[in-house]
Amino acid sequence: MKSTVIKFIGAILLLCIGIFIGKSFFRSSTETAVPMPSGMTYRSTGASNDTTQVLKSNSFNGEIIEVKKGNSIQEAVKKANPGDLIRVYPGNYSENVFIDKDDISLQGVVINGKWPTLDGKKEINDAFLYSGNGILIENFKIINYKGNAIMGQAGNNFIIRNNWIIDTGVYGIFPQYGKNGLIEHNVLSQIADAAIYVGMCDNVDVRHNEVFDNVAGIEIENSRHCLVENNYAHNNTGGLLAFVTPGLPIKTTFDVILRNNFVVNNNHENFGAPGSTVAGIPAGTGILIMAADDVIVENNIITGNNNTGITIVDLATGDPKANDPNSEGNPDRVTILDNIMFDNGNNPTGEIKTIMLTQLDSNGPDIFAYGGGTGSTIRNKNRYRTFGIADYGTAQINDTKDILTMMTPKPVPPRSVSKEEIGELTYYGVCAGCHAFGTRLIGPPTEIIQAIHNDNPQGIVDYITKPKNLRDDYPEMPPQDYLSDEAKMAVAEYILSIKH
Ligand code: HEC
Repeated sequence: MKSTVIKFIGAILLLCIGIFIGKSFFRSSTETAVPMPSGMTYRSTGASNDTTQVLKSNSFNGEIIEVKKGNSIQEAVKKANPGDLIRVYPGNYSENVFIDKDDISLQGVVINGKWPTLDGKKEINDAFLYSGNGILIENFKIINYKGNAIMGQAGNNFIIRNNWIIDTGVYGIFPQYGKNGLIEHNVLSQIADAAIYVGMCDNVDVRHNEVFDNVAGIEIENSRHCLVENNYAHNNTGGLLAFVTPGLPIKTTFDVILRNNFVVNNNHENFGAPGSTVAGIPAGTGILIMAADDVIVENNIITGNNNTGITIVDLATGDPKANDPNSEGNPDRVTILDNIMFDNGNNPTGEIKTIMLTQLDSNGPDIFAYGGGTGSTIRNKNRYRTFGIADYGTAQINDTKDILTMMTPKPVPPRSVSKEEIGELTYYGVCAGCHAFGTRLIGPPTEIIQAIHNDNPQGIVDYITKPKNLRDDYPEMPPQDYLSDEAKMAVAEYILSIKH
């Protein structure tokens, strides 16, 4: 059991989900009918439990820059000033677009079913990488990247919506270290790790997205105050996940609501990169809560997940390596309200299978809890087939209908990020996917890098800008030239300072 638990613990990342707006692209069939952007730089919040929340366009105050087939989106971003709107017309754009300014809106214009399409051709790492605040990215089709479709680094007040994302490598939508964001009405498939990955963020709503054929559907990791609502997660290896990964600069996941989602048939074979954390998620996982606190699971339809409907586990049990004294590994105060659950656990695997063979019913349960944690409750225990929740009390609330959003009522100010933080964030956000301290992942161990480049951060900067294939038994490292000079030096210094 232990090893199983460990495996899927290790595997977890976090997902949040989003929603949608749609207004602008469902209508247009000619260029003249293309409506103006719906929600420019910001929105009124809390007004509704549905998609109208972000529609208010009150702060679009700049120029409109048009990008047509044959032009470059990155060139338009270079020209743009805060407050500007970049409208991208249908066509193929094979680019890595880097946005390091505030209040830039990028809006695809879909005409007659033709989308502006960013195609990474399996050569380019990322489609959109933003570090600015107040970024809007909507209405793009993004395919065939190697790293991420849309990744944010420390950008606050973001909106990512209405995008159609297929096979973009490791992650689909991945805001990291951002506060106050909305991810809605995106459709993502064939992502080798998490389709929507909310990492080290606060105050994010993930609503009305469809995620399917991914390893992890929606993942909320080391993030707080997230609402994952009205999403359709089907045919992933794991559907919705809320967890803590130890060792990251942000240590906790708490205050997460998983509500009104369809979590159906998440039985996809796990195709995560060997060695990656999600590679251990057992196929058939509907919802996974690991070491996250104050998670409420309400009113979801959870069915057809062959391992378990909901798995709740602690970190300490499974992963001795995850020994981060600053990460508390128990899932505390989980609240299960009413959900529709049936037909889960038809073909349990690994440890859950072993455990269930000792039970009267050898199928996997709707709810499986293992390990530490206190204060968890459930509203209607007898409705479900359960394992390990004997100590769950009766839920003190019936619903969460008073909570319409986790976003902040107003935009929050930009984060000020120190050089050390930039280094740490870049390492964990970019490098740690391939480099770990003492073990070989896709790249050589960090301690080897330290030994080679001891006292010479510039050597690391030079290498990551233009990597050469040095070793026969390793693949080539992708160039990190999209990183700013500041981020490159910061991560080089950080990598040399890591001690374990
Ligand atoms: C997609 C996987 C991947 C990512 C992401 C990645 N690396 Fe690498 N890295 C590799 C591989 C593979 C090698 C070995 C290449 C070789 O030896 O031919 C490598 C080699 C290196 C080396 C060379 C060590 C030497 O022998 O001189 C350094 C330095 C390095 N990486 C730093 C970084 C930093 C810093 C980051 C983050 C900004 C990073 N890497 C991100 C895969 C990756």
